Amino acid sequence: MQTITLDIPGQPQSYPVVVGTKLLGRVAALLPLDGYSRVFVVTDEVVGPLYYETLARGLMLPVSRIVFPPGEEAKNLENVSKIWTAMHRAGCDRKTLVIALGGGVIGDMAGFAAATYMRGVGYFQMPTTLLSQVDSGLGGKTHIDFDGVKNLVGSFYQPSAVVIDTDTLKTLPERDFVANFAEIIKHGLIQDVEYLKLVTSKRPREFSVAELTDIIAGSVRIKADVVMSDPNESGRRSLLNFGHTVGHAVEALSLETKTPLRHGEAISIGMVVEAEISVSKGLLSAEDAERVRRLLSAAGLPVTVPELNMADMFEKMASDKKNAHGVLRFTLLKALGEVVWYQEVENDTVRDAILRHREAK
Ligand SMILES: NC(=O)c1ccc[n+]([C@@H]2O[C@H](COP(=O)([O-])OP(=O)(O)OC[C@H]3O[C@@H](n4cnc5c(N)ncnc54)[C@H](O)[C@@H]3O)[C@@H](O)[C@H]2O)c1
Ligand SMILES: [Zn+2]
Repeated sequence: MQTITLDIPGQPQSYPVVVGTKLLGRVAALLPLDGYSRVFVVTDEVVGPLYYETLARGLMLPVSRIVFPPGEEAKNLENVSKIWTAMHRAGCDRKTLVIALGGGVIGDMAGFAAATYMRGVGYFQMPTTLLSQVDSGLGGKTHIDFDGVKNLVGSFYQPSAVVIDTDTLKTLPERDFVANFAEIIKHGLIQDVEYLKLVTSKRPREFSVAELTDIIAGSVRIKADVVMSDPNESGRRSLLNFGHTVGHAVEALSLETKTPLRHGEAISIGMVVEAEISVSKGLLSAEDAERVRRLLSAAGLPVTVPELNMADMFEKMASDKKNAHGVLRFTLLKALGEVVWYQEVENDTVRDAILRHREAK
């Protein structure tokens, strides 16, 4: 078991991120729960049946739960309202601990409900997907989708603890597991070339649970370091956006086709294209860009841009919050393990990089 402490500037308290196996049933033994009167668990219909009983049995406090259908569609205000109502009717007071048991959808929504119920109660993230373990479960961004816009409404609200039980990864579908690995490879690419070597030394599913525990702890350290240096996303946190400007556009457009991509798959394609842009801007060598492509491909991730309308791609990229006065801004690679952010790039350069990595017909 490994514990990483997140000490976020401006926050009254630091909090632990515990990573290891067989943690779900031992929460009361791992973390101090004496200040809490009861627990309210938010989960979904896939994760709940797998892990709720084990978690609830080990808490030694009165527990109630709410269960939502799986998927992004559940991350809405109506369901936050259902959480508030269920908490109120279960007698939850200010000493209630909310536990988010599930992937990023449950974590984002339960975090927002915890941030707002009685002006904020304590909550734990217990992320059960690889993405939520290395990304969404850390950093305290809580939000819901609203009026057709992803993550439009929310707040920064840090959990009191994050418990990452790596045994939960065993039940993840293969495709999701590999897709999520793109974010882990991204952490290596932006921050740490030794870590990059480690996480690409085998195919994702070949790592043992013990090796995965080390890998996840490594990713947590990288994300924690970035979040601690820029808790409100005013600068350095942008380095996490590598691959995401092109990746988000590819992801969003693919969802309207017969072959929708997972977030991580789209980010893999985005990283290939943005490495190419980095070469065009004279920042990265062509050999290193090719290495990025090979490493992602060897992990089983897609590396070519599907047939999508170029004008639609630009429209999606232009709506990115990070752009300045109509010019696209990217986080680009300077070397493997090193990035620069807020790089303005002309549309032609972006277009050329996309065309270079188009799927062969
Ligand atoms: N807050 C942030 O900083 C942040 C960052 C990145 C992404 N996000 C958000 O995270 C969400 C995506 O998260 P996600 O990829 O975890 O998706 P998800 O929460 O939708 O989970 C994916 C699927 O896996 C299932 N699942 C979860 N754990 C499982 C397990 N252990 N075994 C079997 N099945 C399991 C879920 O039921 C769901 O069907 C998006 O809404 C995104 O906006 C937030
Ligand atoms: Zn991402």
